[in-house]
Amino acid sequence: MNQKQFKRRPSLAIYPGSFDPITYGHLDIVARAGRLFDRIIIAVSHASVKQPMFSVEDRMDLIRESLRESNLNKGIEVDSFQGLLADYAKKKSCFVVIRGIRFISDFEYELQMALTNRHLYPDMETVYLMPDEKHIYLSSTIVKEIAGLGQTPAKFVPRCVARALRSLRAVI
Ligand code: PNS
Repeated sequence: MNQKQFKRRPSLAIYPGSFDPITYGHLDIVARAGRLFDRIIIAVSHASVKQPMFSVEDRMDLIRESLRESNLNKGIEVDSFQGLLADYAKKKSCFVVIRGIRFISDFEYELQMALTNRHLYPDMETVYLMPDEKHIYLSSTIVKEIAGLGQTPAKFVPRCVARALRSLRAVI
């Protein structure tokens, strides 16, 4: 481990994910990360969801709009990446990845991902943040299930996402 890297405050962090779609749980993590880092890149992966509900471009637009709705746009960029997260982080000269963790059941996958990324990019650390407990049960999968079964999950997602889910239902 190169100790020099850890003597300075890392001012940039990447928050990667599928964000299909973004929820209040994700926004809670962004707000917490914003207290620790000067700049955050929310990075939508092109590869992570097999049958996404929203295209990567639509997900990015919904993230941008959600950030505006929540007054969270200061120091936050929205981007997407193809391929490995480790390669994307190297390209951005970023040493920190943020992930949200909720239950012990998240831990196995997160540990596997963090250790894989450590092999691929040893200088990078994964930092885990916990959302407020009111968001602990929330996930994009649950949101999509509720929307798919005819309800608008308005309590769980920003207004723009609820709107997008409603209009998607109207066209299906
Ligand atoms: O929101 P998600 O689906 O839990 O996010 C998962 C994501 C996108 C962070 C993860 O699948 C990822 O980093 N994918 C890019 C491919 C990669 O780097 N894989 C090796 C590390 S497991």
